[in-house]
Amino acid sequence: MTLQALRGTTDLLADDVDKWIAIEQQARRISRLYGYQEIRTPLIEDAALFLRSLGETTDIVQKEMFRFEDRGGNAIVLRPEGTAPVVRAYLEHHLHKTQGFAKLFYLGPMFRAERPQAGRFRQFHQYGVEAIGSQSAWVDVEVIILCLEILRACGVQDVSLWIGSMGCRDDQKRSASLLRERLHPQIAALCKDCQGRLERNVFRVLDCKHPTCQGIIRELMSTMGQKRLDATSASPFVLCEACKDHFDTVRSGLKDAQVVYDDSRVFARGLDYYTRTVFEIRAQGLGAQDAVAAGGRYDHLVEEFGGPSLGAVGFATGMERLLLAASRAQDAAIPSASRQQTIFLAVAQPELIRQALRMAQQLRNQHVPAYLDYEGRSLKAQLREADQLNCHWVAIIGNQELQQGVITLKDLGQGTQDAIPLERFVETMVQRLHV
Ligand code: HAM
Repeated sequence: MTLQALRGTTDLLADDVDKWIAIEQQARRISRLYGYQEIRTPLIEDAALFLRSLGETTDIVQKEMFRFEDRGGNAIVLRPEGTAPVVRAYLEHHLHKTQGFAKLFYLGPMFRAERPQAGRFRQFHQYGVEAIGSQSAWVDVEVIILCLEILRACGVQDVSLWIGSMGCRDDQKRSASLLRERLHPQIAALCKDCQGRLERNVFRVLDCKHPTCQGIIRELMSTMGQKRLDATSASPFVLCEACKDHFDTVRSGLKDAQVVYDDSRVFARGLDYYTRTVFEIRAQGLGAQDAVAAGGRYDHLVEEFGGPSLGAVGFATGMERLLLAASRAQDAAIPSASRQQTIFLAVAQPELIRQALRMAQQLRNQHVPAYLDYEGRSLKAQLREADQLNCHWVAIIGNQELQQGVITLKDLGQGTQDAIPLERFVETMVQRLHV
């Protein structure tokens, strides 16, 4: 039997890990610039957390959660997303009392039992932010700008930002009955799933991938246009005055910041907790799974978890998709495999291993990464290994050189070679490392 990683999961080898670290560093740096602090929540949570927040009729809850029972019979879930756990932690640690407005970010694995395909995994990773404790539309603006900034810093520029407003809960009730009424005459033409969704959660019809359902929705939106309060966009959501004002502020804030957006798209987010602003960012070259980041406002979740009535907004970006989009971009800011700032200490005679080990320790004490061969291989084999390991330098320690008081240093990146006095070797390497 060959053992393999599970479908929809991936191993990250050294080159990939370097790229991930580069993205994580950008995400941490920029989040802190905007005043967000890192939070880490467990990978497992009580199933009830997601049943209550994401919505019983959502795809995630209905078919995508990795669920199991612990020995005590409790229903446990591998977290499918980060928003609900962060809100739980916000309340559990009384941040609503100690901080009020909390700006938090997270990085880590999420799990969804989806059908794996390019850009869609069962274990994937999100970088996300949650700003909890404000209703202000300006926070929505900040969060969207932050999201675009992270993508830009990773070299992903060619993106389209779709924004919309799903209105408050009252607006959603009105919009749902309007939509249901309009869709009813076409019920027979909808896919089987959507026929059920029509009664249970009509907004889920909006993000159905079935071409017939998509056609029906498109057609319906174009005819509904004139009857809606906000006839300027193709949104199926009828907004009250307060929600209209809120959305206008978001749009004007984005305009001030010269952010290009498209508010003419029909889209509903696949999670039930959203109210008011929702957005998705699509990147070029990702194929069918082109949503690289998505988020929105969820003004009722804190209260639904037993906390005070507080507004909140956030987003998450899929790190795998971000990396894929970055690798497609011309000027990707993510490093490709370049020579590591590492030195390989090669010995011309096996007995010099003691000398080499001492030197390696001196280098490491000065924060210079050093590598050496412990197998007594030939010099040629050591040079080949240094190349395979992508080391930047090879220092050759040989009896003849030592008698002359020098070490031969090859720069594999530049293809040059020189003799360094033995007593200045460590100091020289420290200098070269920091050039
Ligand atoms: P989401 O739209 O479900 O939202 O996921 C956000 C992003 O995670 C997607 O745009 C995509 O890049 C990535 N993603 C989702 N599923 C997968 C998958 N199976 N494989 C690879 N990448 C995936 C949320 O999760 C919300 N919690 C976002 C949010 C935060 N809303 C408010 N705050």
